[in-house]
Amino acid sequence: MEAKKVMLSGIQPSGDLHLGNYLGAIKNWADRAEEFDCYYFMADLHTITVRQDPALLRKRTITQLAQYIACGLDPEKNTLFIQSHVPAHAQLAWVLECYTMFGELSRMTQFKDKSSKHQDNINAGLFTYPSLMAADILLYQPDYVPVGEDQKQHVEITRDIAVRFNNIYGDVFKVPEPYIPKAGARVYGLTTPGDKMSKSVPEGCVFMMDDPAVIAKKFKRAVTDSDREHCVYYDRENKPGVANLMNIYSAVTGKSYEEIEREFDGQGYGVFKPAVGEAVIEMLRPIREETERILADKAYLESVYKAGAERAGRVAFKTLRKVYKKVGFVAP
Ligand code: TRP
Repeated sequence: MEAKKVMLSGIQPSGDLHLGNYLGAIKNWADRAEEFDCYYFMADLHTITVRQDPALLRKRTITQLAQYIACGLDPEKNTLFIQSHVPAHAQLAWVLECYTMFGELSRMTQFKDKSSKHQDNINAGLFTYPSLMAADILLYQPDYVPVGEDQKQHVEITRDIAVRFNNIYGDVFKVPEPYIPKAGARVYGLTTPGDKMSKSVPEGCVFMMDDPAVIAKKFKRAVTDSDREHCVYYDRENKPGVANLMNIYSAVTGKSYEEIEREFDGQGYGVFKPAVGEAVIEMLRPIREETERILADKAYLESVYKAGAERAGRVAFKTLRKVYKKVGFVAP
């Protein structure tokens, strides 16, 4: 049997997951394990390039791990771990920093954005972040790295670093391809249907851990339009609020837009909005309950991230050892 292709992705535990994250991406991840050998890690090393509240960072790292498991990422079928638990990430990052050019790093869009946003803390880590990300990736010799638009440039520089290193030392690293995931639903803010759902607009953002009552309220207050007939039909241009709700309802129930139009024909927004809310509540309920159950079981969570770090660590260490040898370090 041919070995499965390897896929790896890091997730920054810097915010609470919401409906947009779930319907847009996470929902499809569980199935990937059938086709790929998948590694997912909580990228805690990356988060401290901007200041974090330590207690909150710890809580988010653990909560996010529990949420991913609750969303269907089976720790038996995927390697789930916490980045800082595998020291090879920091170790390879240092080596790769010496093979990453100042000029390249200066051109990174994210560095330019973040350094202008946090002018009081333009630290060296913020600048060398892509070398750490290259290390995260190259340690596992993955075929694919699924990333969003904002991280494509970092996968590009990873490829450049890998090729540069390979040109000097022979084939050490596999040069990975970015992987464009099957597009999930694109979810917009409930109060700002022109913009993607975002935690920075919490009143229009449905967090995965929100109480059902809170979710119901957010949907009741969802912005629609001034159509006096309250007609539910799909028109992204002129009825962005309704289109967004239809899209969410469709993603949750599997119903087509035509079916939804028929279902709410003549019923108005007063019926439609709570119905979408109810469908979302019922979809999220088992995930939230499972997350809470997992979070309460500290021993289980610990066993998951320990086993994950061990499995990941073995693979990572093999690559690190090869790199150390190639660059001329004396074997310990
Ligand atoms: N930088 C990524 C982000 O902010 C997270 C990340 C860290 C990552 N290391 C990675 C993603 C390796 C893919 C592969 O979203």
